[in-house]
Amino acid sequence: LGQKVHVYGEVDSTQTIAHALVASGAPEGTLVLAEAQTAGRGRMGRAWHSPAGKGIWMSLVLTPRVPVYFLPQLTLLSAVALCRSIQKVCQVDIGIKWPNDLLIKGKKVSGILLESSGEDERLKYVIAGIGISVNLKVEDYPEELRSVATSLAIESGAEIKRETLVQAFLLEFEELYALYLEKGFSPIRLLWEALSVTLKRPIRTHSPSGVIEGIADSLDDSGALTVITGNGEKIKVYSGDIELR
Ligand code: BTN
Repeated sequence: LGQKVHVYGEVDSTQTIAHALVASGAPEGTLVLAEAQTAGRGRMGRAWHSPAGKGIWMSLVLTPRVPVYFLPQLTLLSAVALCRSIQKVCQVDIGIKWPNDLLIKGKKVSGILLESSGEDERLKYVIAGIGISVNLKVEDYPEELRSVATSLAIESGAEIKRETLVQAFLLEFEELYALYLEKGFSPIRLLWEALSVTLKRPIRTHSPSGVIEGIADSLDDSGALTVITGNGEKIKVYSGDIELR
């Protein structure tokens, strides 16, 4: 992975560029990096704050020939790879909030957005979009983000070389991706569970059928979160966002 790297100054979104590169034949492992994004995308239609030179804004092209419904597993795998690479490069107490947000002391430091295209019920390609707030200072955040977002530099008290972290991430991802393609999701699931700040905690989430409140209990084989509600009922949450209570 990362044999072909495309580096840009300012782009709308590295995701858009990666999709276009795939359309013109870019192979698995192609990596798109930008200094700044003017229309960085987050999950669930949100925007992603991507100021110039302060973070890692990147998109990685993957072509796993697995069923489309395995996508949530890849989402969790990406979070594990990212979390482990950050732990290797800087001294912070970081954990994963389901499905793939990385938090330090309850504040978000990194997010992942997977966009995919399928064919005949198999994934044709996946663009793993990764945003890591590396060297942002408090004043680099708009007021409304300051209570919910943070950066590696703020939390560790030191500037971090972005190249070192990108490299560490690619190595970690490569290793876990090979393990996943060979052995399936179970080893990844164990690693995810060990890094989770969600399991055994009270959570709240909104589903099409209303609000679900309970204790996040475990991950299942598809990557869904099993929640045990007040009356002992087990409910699976497949997508969306959860609130830690
Ligand atoms: C989230 O937590 O909502 C996901 C954020 C993903 C942001 C990254 S930054 C690089 C890539 N390009 C985008 O436009 N989004 C992803």
